[in-house]
Amino acid sequence: MGPWTLDPRGPLAESISVLYWILFACAVVVLAIVVGALTYSGIKFRDRPGRVAQQIHGQNTFELIWTIVPTLMVISFTALSWQRLNFINDVNSNVAMTVKVEGRQWAWGFTYPDQPMFKLPDGTLLQAGEQLDIPVGQKIKLELTAKDVIHSFWVPNLGGKKDAVPGHTTTMWIQADQPGTYKGQCFEFCGDGHADMLVTVVAHPQNEYAAWAKTAVEEAARATSPETKAGRDAFLSGPCAGCHTVKGTTAAGKVGPELTHIASKPNIAGVLSPVNQENLTKWVRNAPSIKPGILMPKFEGVLPDQQIDQIVQWLLTLK
Ligand code: CUA
Repeated sequence: MGPWTLDPRGPLAESISVLYWILFACAVVVLAIVVGALTYSGIKFRDRPGRVAQQIHGQNTFELIWTIVPTLMVISFTALSWQRLNFINDVNSNVAMTVKVEGRQWAWGFTYPDQPMFKLPDGTLLQAGEQLDIPVGQKIKLELTAKDVIHSFWVPNLGGKKDAVPGHTTTMWIQADQPGTYKGQCFEFCGDGHADMLVTVVAHPQNEYAAWAKTAVEEAARATSPETKAGRDAFLSGPCAGCHTVKGTTAAGKVGPELTHIASKPNIAGVLSPVNQENLTKWVRNAPSIKPGILMPKFEGVLPDQQIDQIVQWLLTLK
C-alpha cells in the first residue's frame, strides 16, 4: 500500500487527498512564480559599473494581481476545506455500526457494538486489542476515549485522525472501499511506547463479515471459558508437559515439538491439517494411528475423554 496521498482507500482519505493535491499544485505554482521572478530580477537588475537604479513609485497592475489572486486562492481553499469538514465530521448519518475505541499506554482496545453477532455466551460483548475488523464499504463510527494520557487514532490510507482523550469521548468515522489490511499508528506522543502503539484495521468483504464475527466470538468465548482453564491445568500437571514446551507456562519438555503457537500452525505434526478442534482431538486421542512410529503415545483411555476435550480447548487458544 502506498502513502495515503497517492493511495487513498476510503471516501474520507480520498476527499482529504484531493484537497491535499489541489493545495500542493497551487503551492508549486506560487513557488515557481516567486522563485522565477526573484531569479529573473536578480540577473536583469544586478549591479553593474555605471548603472543607476531607476526609482519607481507603485505599479497598479502588479499590485492588483498580487492582491486579488492570493485572496481568491485563500477563499477557495477555505471553501473547499469547509465543504470537506462537513463530510469528515458527519459521524452520524448512514452509520453501519459503532465501535468503542480505547487508547492506553500503549495499545488500542476495541469493543464491538451491542448486536447479537458480537455477543459472547456470558452476555459480554466482543472485545479486541490492536486489531479492528470491519466490513468493506460501510461507514463505521468510532467513539474514542483514553485510559491514561492523550492518544491519537490514525489509519492513513483510510483517512481521518482523532485524539483519544481521557474522561472525554470524541468521534470519527472510517470506511474502507476494498478488502485488505490497513496499518495505523498512534499520532500523539504518549510516552516510552508511543512508537510501538500500532493499530491494524482489517476490512472483510461484506458477505464474509458475519463468518469472521462468529469465529471471533467463539475464540473469545473459548479463551475465557472454565473448560479452557481446566485444560490448561490438565496439560501442565499431566503427561503433556513432560514432552512439550509452551512458552510462558511451566511446560518445558524437550522430547516433543514446542506448542507455544500450535493453533496458528498450518498442520499437526506435518500430517493433519487444518489445526482445529476435530483434528487436535483425533491427534491427542491416538497419534500413533495417524503417524505410525511416532513417540507420542495414545491418550485415549489413558486420560478421561472430558480432560482430552479440555486440553484441546486450551491448545486452540495458543495462537
Ligand atoms: Cu498512544 Cu502515542
